[in-house]
Amino acid sequence: MAQQRGHWGSKAGFILAAAGSAIGLGNIWKFPYITGENGGGAFVIVYLGCIALIALPILIGEIIMGKTTQQSAVPAFRELSRPASPWMGIGWMGVLAAFLLLSYYAVIAGWTMHYVWLALQGTFTGLDAEGVNNVFNESAASPGLNLSWLVVFMALTTFIVAGGIKRGIELASRIMLPLLGLILLALMIVAATSAKGGFSQAVDFVFSFRADQLTADGVLEAVGHAFFSVGVGMGTMIAYGSYLKRKSDAVGTSVLIVGLDTVIALMACMVLFPITFAYGLEPDAGPGLVFKNMPIALLALPGGSFWAVIFFVLLFVAALTSAISLLEVATSYVVDELKWSRLKAAFIGGILITLVGVPSALSNGSHWFNEGFADITGKNWLDSVDYLVSNIMLPLGGLGIALFVGWRMSKSIRQSAFSEGSGLAATYGAWCFLIQWLAPAAVLIVFLNAVGILDLGIFAEPGDTQAEIEAAPELVDPDDLE
Ligand code: PFF
Repeated sequence: MAQQRGHWGSKAGFILAAAGSAIGLGNIWKFPYITGENGGGAFVIVYLGCIALIALPILIGEIIMGKTTQQSAVPAFRELSRPASPWMGIGWMGVLAAFLLLSYYAVIAGWTMHYVWLALQGTFTGLDAEGVNNVFNESAASPGLNLSWLVVFMALTTFIVAGGIKRGIELASRIMLPLLGLILLALMIVAATSAKGGFSQAVDFVFSFRADQLTADGVLEAVGHAFFSVGVGMGTMIAYGSYLKRKSDAVGTSVLIVGLDTVIALMACMVLFPITFAYGLEPDAGPGLVFKNMPIALLALPGGSFWAVIFFVLLFVAALTSAISLLEVATSYVVDELKWSRLKAAFIGGILITLVGVPSALSNGSHWFNEGFADITGKNWLDSVDYLVSNIMLPLGGLGIALFVGWRMSKSIRQSAFSEGSGLAATYGAWCFLIQWLAPAAVLIVFLNAVGILDLGIFAEPGDTQAEIEAAPELVDPDDLE
């Protein structure tokens, strides 16, 4: 079977596809809004620490598992341990996580397509902040719109994955990723030149450390987002790594992928926040941040409609290269395990995920999936699934992968897979320490603290942070009341 397996056309092709998987809505839609919600600086620094010390070592581990076994996650666990090994459960959880993640990811990606369409028609021209808010609220709440765009986006994703590794995924990434880098750079220059005052405020917001803003939930969110953004913890990179030749370099490419992912996330903040501050908008607008703030600011620029179209094309492209890697997790699992053809696996997987995405598409427009569900979990369906996948399943999967690679996999296979083709072989000892001890311990401690089993007492309580205190309504002096 290994002989018939597709392979990347080149090292650059793999790096672009893997970076395309990592760089997505997580960088441009989610990172800025959770940074905004968690008060900026301190959250960003914790996040960067999680990227370097937890996500990067696990990414190297996933790629090593893939290239060594030439198999996707579930069979890779089997081959590196034994048949019917309980470790395979981590692979299955990954397939489930990819399924769930793509089911709501595709809904947000649908919003980006809808916004390209709206911007092309000039819908935002002449609208004030309230008008743009209304457009977002109405679009997000419309069942018909959400369902239609979900189907269109999933169809595109499915066609690319069905096209195969070299002609589908690699080709799409080769075209789309450089395009994304260029667009983001252009927008950053526009933001720096047109929103000058906002730019320095944004730098201060994103980079100054305000420890009093950190909550335990914020730290869990930083850990979860590091997994989400790099795309580790569910075996995506085991699958992508399995299309590498055995001798390929896992370490250097991982450093490059994580570096690109982080630079793009910070660049996205440097587009979004200068504009947000320059126009007096709020940085903590939540999931609607890019959809509410960007049109207002972009349309105020010379050639505004053009920039608005470009921005939402950027978001769409980023979403598509990530979505194909998510569908690839399920596809490669079925191809490897059930020996289905790629075409059949991609189409059936695509259809099932679209169906699972229906409640997410209805999350803002149907009472049941919105308030009804919020009565149970405190969040609507889409946000609840996001919380479950990002903050629970991915860190747990990452913990499992770290423990497996660090303690269960054969030492000699591990060491040679790490060193082969790599100029960074000397870092093997440091990497072993991170993957055996630091990454598992960090994930475990943050988890236990977040669920209340362990009270570290070093973080602010929710409600205590400066942003929340400032946002709280002012108390009225009872004497002032009649
Ligand atoms: N990394 C992607 C993003 O930041 O949008 C999302 C993602 C892709 C998560 C692939 C997980 C994954 F396996």
